[in-house]
Amino acid sequence: MVAVSTLVVSPSGPLDGVVRIGGAKNSALKLMAASVLAGAGHVHTLRNVPDIDDVNTMSDLLRSIGCRVEWPDPTGALVLTRPDRVAADLSEPPAAGLVGAIRASTALLGPLLAREGEVRLPAPGGDDFGRGARPISMHTDALERLGAELRLESGGPGGGTVVVGRVPGGRLRGADVRLPYPSVGATENVLMAAVLAEGRTTITNAAQEPEIADLAAMLNRMGAHVLGAGSRRIEVTGVPMLRSVEHEVVPDRIEAATYLASVAAVGGEVQLAGADHRHLGVIIERLGDTGTRVAPALGGVWVQAPPGRRGRTDLQTLPYPGLATDQLPMLVAALVTAEGTSYATENVQPGRFAYVPELHRMGGDIAEHGHHLAIRGVERLRGGTTVRATDIRAGAALVIAGLQADEPTRVEGAGHLERGYADLVDQLVGVGARVRVEEPAPPG
Ligand code: EPU
Repeated sequence: MVAVSTLVVSPSGPLDGVVRIGGAKNSALKLMAASVLAGAGHVHTLRNVPDIDDVNTMSDLLRSIGCRVEWPDPTGALVLTRPDRVAADLSEPPAAGLVGAIRASTALLGPLLAREGEVRLPAPGGDDFGRGARPISMHTDALERLGAELRLESGGPGGGTVVVGRVPGGRLRGADVRLPYPSVGATENVLMAAVLAEGRTTITNAAQEPEIADLAAMLNRMGAHVLGAGSRRIEVTGVPMLRSVEHEVVPDRIEAATYLASVAAVGGEVQLAGADHRHLGVIIERLGDTGTRVAPALGGVWVQAPPGRRGRTDLQTLPYPGLATDQLPMLVAALVTAEGTSYATENVQPGRFAYVPELHRMGGDIAEHGHHLAIRGVERLRGGTTVRATDIRAGAALVIAGLQADEPTRVEGAGHLERGYADLVDQLVGVGARVRVEEPAPPG
């Protein structure tokens, strides 16, 4: 992967060919965290792991607490080996800096408490979507129900807080946990903690994302007893020890949505090899409104859209099986040139609209009212401008906008894309899009 900071996106389409959908970022990172739960010396082999910055950060984080992580060839398996003891204190360098770089570092909270009986975890990083630190009280409240004693200490890295926890008696106890909201991260943390707890745990109002079912599938292969993952109610019967596993990461439905939205934006016919249409239900329906056809195909998903302006639709993000918050920016970008006004509501990460002013700079006409957008379709976006990505999906949205502009667009901050996409530029180029990495100016 070449380090990217600015992309130049030229008017493109229709797109034609095949893209390859990799493993889901938001599953791979949690599966890696779950490897800590196994017995000493146990080896985990993960396939279909995406070659993205966040996976490399998680690898370094696991190494910093004593795990062995080997990934000589990113097209092959990632192998994790659990040492006898892992360090449960992540508040000192180098672990602290790595925790601060990715939100998924929170996924170590449950496993470290369950397996090591203690943890010190600084406030996690990742995209804040303009609202400051993302809260984790649902994680900590639920882990307390399982018997963990947790407190927040100030004076963490950069003046932030540190979650300090211990498990009296060394083993968590199963409990009935009702989440106030189906938080993905809280569901994963309780699930990972409960698999080694004594007795039975139920999680009601659990998140139902395919990544939760993927995590449960891996845990069950490690010897856990998890029922109902992927539904609103998960039941876990704790076991004393988990073992080695081989597991293939579920396909990335957010990456798939990025190519679906690209085709919807500029037309064409593309095969998404490796995508799973069962995880794309709402997006398939909404794109259908716009005249974009999506269907299951052998080994993946097929998408086709006529060139020219597409129809309007309305979107609202919700916990799965609703439309994913991570899919919305790319869909909004595709609707900027639709016929008529489309409405979009962001219910999951309110305030996640940093890409909207950038779309305005390109001639988009979007009115923002709280967590609602009214997207009044314009005939064509204006290129010849520079826009800035502030997070992974905002970056993807701006690339899709650039495909629809009348002249090349510079997308700065494109390094964010490398946190979540292994090869977005090459894949788009492979289906005929005109996207290139801007060469840095020669020094002097
Ligand atoms: N929330 C709380 N308190 C909590 C936990 C969550 O108020 O204790 C709120 C959050 O602030 C947010 C909402 O609940 O408004 C949803 O958060 P959730 O816990 O479900 O999300 P997450 O686990 O922090 C994961 C993904 C996000 C994705 C969300 C929602 C990872 C690493 N991140 O975050 O993905 O947006 O689920 O689907 O799995 C991305 O991939 O770019 C990304 C940000």
